[in-house]
Amino acid sequence: MVNRTHLAWIYSVVCLFASLSAFSEPAASQTLNPKSGKAYLSASMIAMQNDPMANPISLWLEKGKEIWSSSGSQTSCQQCHGQLEDNKSVATQFPKWSSKFKKLINLEDQILECSKRTSEKFNGLEDSNLLALSAALHQQSVHQSFTLRPPQNSNKAWQSELNAGAQLYTQRIGRMNLACTHCHDQNVGKRMQTDLISPGNPTGFPIFKMSWQGMGSIDRRLRACFSGVQANVPLPGSRELRQLELFLKMRAEGMPIEGPSLRR
Ligand code: HEC
Ligand code: HEC
Repeated sequence: MVNRTHLAWIYSVVCLFASLSAFSEPAASQTLNPKSGKAYLSASMIAMQNDPMANPISLWLEKGKEIWSSSGSQTSCQQCHGQLEDNKSVATQFPKWSSKFKKLINLEDQILECSKRTSEKFNGLEDSNLLALSAALHQQSVHQSFTLRPPQNSNKAWQSELNAGAQLYTQRIGRMNLACTHCHDQNVGKRMQTDLISPGNPTGFPIFKMSWQGMGSIDRRLRACFSGVQANVPLPGSRELRQLELFLKMRAEGMPIEGPSLRR
């Protein structure tokens, strides 16, 4: 489906790349630009992000904390996992290889899975209460970095998911025939519509995006990038989205997690 916002995005992609006759192939080793998306926001958005009274994310954090400890008729998250504040580095470990599901799962997948043990009924991965919990858990890991390592018993499987993610990152897709790397490595800092292209680091999720009027997961953001270049958009929860998430987080190794963040 192409709506007006989408058309504007496409138009700005065309403008951005019109001057370049052809793209050089991505270099074999990408040098990481360790700047987060926050560095590419306007001064007024950064001010809003930094002011808890003005930042809409504050309400989501409160909501997440509330759901964590509320039990309804069944067990609460807290009854199995302890205080929210004791779950300091949980968000640093996802996506993880799940030997049960034989695939990578991210934090939102795990929360959805765990909700079946509670009386919370979430309507899919972008459910606002699920995202509030994700935001609250990510907030506990602020200033830490991702700690993603292959599990001992599934080392090969994990490695092949990572390789698939790296491959997807450099593969041209969509009618625009562009790969992630063309924007997030080769055109960082250039203007697209009213956005400045950032290096695509995954340290500020979930995001409260003004144009969405709400919170969205990394899954949703990646799907928006597929849609922007007019590629087939993977379904929420698709294997390729988790492979890309793993690759992006390995690529951002050592960067501090900023927690849930405002975006335009
Ligand atoms: C035509 C350019 C373009 C392509 C190709 C593209 N993106 Fe994006 N992407 C953007 C723009 C513009 C934004 C919003 C501004 C920003 O944060 O970079 C964005 C945002 C992001 C973000 C969020 C960064 C943040 O801090 O909020 C991630 C992660 C990301 N893209 C990953 C990807 C991946 C993975 C691919 C390949 C599947 C991809 N992008 C393809 C233009 C692109
Ligand atoms: C009845 C106990 C139980 C309840 C209630 C429960 N969980 Fe879990 N949770 C587990 C178990 C067991 C695991 C280990 C992985 C698995 O089996 O899914 C887990 C794993 C997790 C993890 C990954 C932890 C890690 O260190 O890897 C997160 C995050 C999580 N749960 C969040 C939640 C949230 C949010 C809720 C409330 C909506 C919740 N859980 C409710 C039992 C529970």
